[in-house]
Amino acid sequence: MPLSDPVHLRAAGVSLVLAAAEGALPSVVHWGADLGDTGPAELSDLCRAVESAPVPNDFDRTVIPSLAREHAAGWRGRPGLTGHRDGTAWSPWFRLTALDVDDRGAGRGGTILATGEDTAAGLALRLELELTAEGLLRQRATLTATATATATATATATAEQPGDGAPFVIDALTATVPVPPVATELLDLAGRWGRERAPQRLPFVVGAHSRENRRGRTGPDAPLILAAGTPGFGFRHGEVWALHVAWSGNHRAYAERLSTGAAVLGGGELLLPGEVRLAPGETYTTPWVYAAYSDEGLDAIAARFHTHLRGRRPQLPPRPVVLNTWEAVYFDQDLDRLTELARLGAEAGVERFVLDDGWFRHRRHDRAGLGDWYVDEHVWPKGLGPLISTVHDLGMEFGLWVEPEMVNPDSDLARAHPDWLLATGGRQPLPSRHQQVLDLTRPGAYAYILDRLDALLTEYDIAYLKWDHNRDLLDAGHGPHGTPSVHAQTHAVYRLLDELRSRHPRVEIESCSSGGLRVDLGILERTDRVWASDCIDPLERQQIQRWTAQLLPPELVGAHVGAPRSHTTGRTHDLSFRAGTALFGSFGIEWNLTTATPDERAELARWVALYKELRPLLHGGTTVRDDAYDPALAVHGVVAPDRRDALYALVQLDAPLTSVPGTVRLPGLDPDVTYRVSVQAPGDAPALRGQPTPWTTDGLVLGGATLARVGVRAPALNPEQLLLVRAQAL
Ligand code: DGJ
Repeated sequence: MPLSDPVHLRAAGVSLVLAAAEGALPSVVHWGADLGDTGPAELSDLCRAVESAPVPNDFDRTVIPSLAREHAAGWRGRPGLTGHRDGTAWSPWFRLTALDVDDRGAGRGGTILATGEDTAAGLALRLELELTAEGLLRQRATLTATATATATATATATAEQPGDGAPFVIDALTATVPVPPVATELLDLAGRWGRERAPQRLPFVVGAHSRENRRGRTGPDAPLILAAGTPGFGFRHGEVWALHVAWSGNHRAYAERLSTGAAVLGGGELLLPGEVRLAPGETYTTPWVYAAYSDEGLDAIAARFHTHLRGRRPQLPPRPVVLNTWEAVYFDQDLDRLTELARLGAEAGVERFVLDDGWFRHRRHDRAGLGDWYVDEHVWPKGLGPLISTVHDLGMEFGLWVEPEMVNPDSDLARAHPDWLLATGGRQPLPSRHQQVLDLTRPGAYAYILDRLDALLTEYDIAYLKWDHNRDLLDAGHGPHGTPSVHAQTHAVYRLLDELRSRHPRVEIESCSSGGLRVDLGILERTDRVWASDCIDPLERQQIQRWTAQLLPPELVGAHVGAPRSHTTGRTHDLSFRAGTALFGSFGIEWNLTTATPDERAELARWVALYKELRPLLHGGTTVRDDAYDPALAVHGVVAPDRRDALYALVQLDAPLTSVPGTVRLPGLDPDVTYRVSVQAPGDAPALRGQPTPWTTDGLVLGGATLARVGVRAPALNPEQLLLVRAQAL
């Protein structure tokens, strides 16, 4: 089949080769390992090399599915676009109208813009692809209902052309990337509140593995990444192709293998019935869908996302040590109490004091007040000024909690504007945490929230907003007819964040949602940190942070030292386990320090000092995770970009499998460099089952290759203990 001249973009070890069958939108010929510097002849032979021939009982000519995966063009999996115009135009087939390639050259990636039209269906499609410098492939599509359809696309059309002029209702518009037959396993993340982002693996068999989110927010069980790979792929090995949907509303990610053998990863926004209806001339644009490839396992996939995220706000100052008041005092706010907490925090080295939920009118508990964004005159008779001054005098920044998208029915706002709540069917949505969702697509509601937040940020010197969101969006209908509104609400939230950031560019924003339920690249385009989970039990956190790292670098992941006894699980842990876990994140404290002993506060200060000392390494290095031989023992670390310094944590999650611990590998070092390996105080004295392992007493000098291949003997740690290990180039 004649193809247009193939296009080859390269970046950071990744190649993307596209070609278009005559008149069609482009197809992906290859997305994966770098093919090197190919000339036109080799590229065209590559297209021939992968082309199939017709087989018995199938189409009479070869089918090359375009990026739009049109059913009409022979794609028998999920089409890229599903929808209809009053029952017509349901099977579009786009003809290429323009192809614009910007190859940045020198392995720096580039962009491809392809537009197509189906005049019979009255639809135009614009596909944008970018291979970023760090080797991420991202794509989005814009669908336009062109003015009128010139003909109806189905046999059901009558002479009156029933679909003509009617809106085109989009059911789904998704992006896909092909994966080769060697990718036989899938991995994605699931989870629940307090245990977000738990991995699950399954074989990639014929059929679809589809992850559909109807929570109206990203969710604890969002896939984060959906990866397909070679058998047994792990953190440090295997070929992996992965996908992430950069969207904070309803979304879908799927892996589909057809009986033809073709396989794709796909994803996009999940639209509710009738949610997007395009009148002639109207358009819909999908979220960006990111795809990453690696031939060295999941760490290399993570590294691409980390580099990308680090590039988006490089001017941000180092991530400060936070003290958050939530688990310290909950709703029990009082100037004297918080002043003492701030004083003890400053003594420990805290740099940012964050006043959590409970500071605004009527908010003495979680059943009232959301929406009334005025400082409570009873709790704070002189406003927040006195507390903020104290915090500043102690040398810390001040941060404030808000939950702008939510309303308690028991609030002045809900009483004044009952019609400002999202609802449908003539009923109130099921209450959740006693709250409902404010319809931010209503200009009055949007203006009120923008005005209140703007007023607070203008009146007070606030460096940071912790932006919370504590319920799923059910029955999220926009009045007066209760039409589905998660799509529009998500855009309104993004607009609100963008507008506030442009008015207050120095204010940082944390994305929190019942803990870690809004973690995605859509929200991270406009926020600076996520709260990874409401569970700060370090044992749970080891897993949550390990897998949140699949997308986010440590400095974007809020990680706090809680009280000795976890408020969410009831488990009790040593301070070294709590702090050594929080160290590998955006470090903070969420503990009522007035109840801590002087010894505990002194030890905490030592951990804060270590965090500050190692912050450039922790927040600028490469995250590494080992494929441990024993699931009870996890190894992870951060290696400096020049690989001359690294910090590892050897984490005993559970009782070990073997009586004598095995060796653990320290990955990511320069194989040609010799390192001094030693334990790192204050993470050097975990509770042991037996004698200290010899090397932990006075260190070792070993090459990077030996440390990666042989490793070191793990100490016999008691369960729920960790040891910090430093490797520094000689
Ligand atoms: C949920 C958050 O995850 C917590 O950290 C805390 O801010 C509460 N909301 C406050 O209501």
